[in-house]
Amino acid sequence: MSIFSRPAPANERPDPPPELGLPIIEIRDLTVGFGERLIMDGLELDVRRGEILGVVGASGTGKSVLLRTIIGLVHQRKGRVRVFGHDMSQLTPQRRRLIERRWGVLFQHGALFSSLTVKQNIQFPMREYLDLSESLLDEMAMVKLRLVGLKPEAAERFPSELSGGMIKRVALARALALDPEIVFLDEPTSGLDPIGAADFDELIATLQKTLGLTVFMVTHDLDSLAGICDRIAALGDGRVLHTGPLDEMKKQSHPWLQAYFNGPRARASHVYTQPAGGRAT
Ligand SMILES: Nc1ncnc2c1ncn2[C@@H]1O[C@H](COP(=O)(O)OP(=O)(O)OP(=O)(O)O)[C@@H](O)[C@H]1O
Ligand SMILES: [Mg+2]
Repeated sequence: MSIFSRPAPANERPDPPPELGLPIIEIRDLTVGFGERLIMDGLELDVRRGEILGVVGASGTGKSVLLRTIIGLVHQRKGRVRVFGHDMSQLTPQRRRLIERRWGVLFQHGALFSSLTVKQNIQFPMREYLDLSESLLDEMAMVKLRLVGLKPEAAERFPSELSGGMIKRVALARALALDPEIVFLDEPTSGLDPIGAADFDELIATLQKTLGLTVFMVTHDLDSLAGICDRIAALGDGRVLHTGPLDEMKKQSHPWLQAYFNGPRARASHVYTQPAGGRAT
């Protein structure tokens, strides 16, 4: 909970998070489809508190749909998604809002509202969930800007006036607006050059440590997987093919995992030899 927010009434206080390393998100038998087409069929996954989980899979396997299902934007046909121990489908709208305040999201597309300034973008979730004065909202937006390494001058700019890297940082600041415990990132380094991507990875890793975040990160970026992810979950065939640290993923016999983790791109990025936190150039 934000240090700036007022204490919640007793019946609205959030439950304490699980111990570090225990599941903070539990997904069981999840089935999601659009029309005739099943995207997920009996998917099972745990996200542990305090980890950076990298979620990979071929384009169209349902990584973004999985993220959107967890946060309630896509309807599930079957199965259970528990966050902080709560079955999300069983919550009253009021309880649901309390849980939603405890996560932040950086979406794959349309990361920012183009008609709002940087400051207004960051303040958007604050206005939705908190009841704060304008001066406090301004102060908080500046704190978040600094947190992601941007100068105060950026506050009054519009997204069209920012570089791709700055847009990602502002989107991250907005995801952190409510001091979340879980952050969902969908392809946070896509479109960035290798140095920009490496800087962004470092920022995510630093924030994860200093703020004690749990990070669910969809990515295609092998350097991110090698550099900052504690575990990886690979999606395919409507389910999770395997979860584990990078060296374990490399040993799996599934053809897609073999091709992805041992293929030419993996070798080219020195994905198995670079030191932790490092990035191939
Ligand atoms: N709202 C929707 N209605 C119908 N089909 C959808 C919808 N959203 C996603 N899909 C389909 O679900 C499948 C999975 O989409 P998703 O966006 O999750 O893929 P992804 O793994 O994130 O791919 P990428 O790596 O390209 O981002 C795709 O075939 C997509 O066309
Ligand atoms: Mg996607």
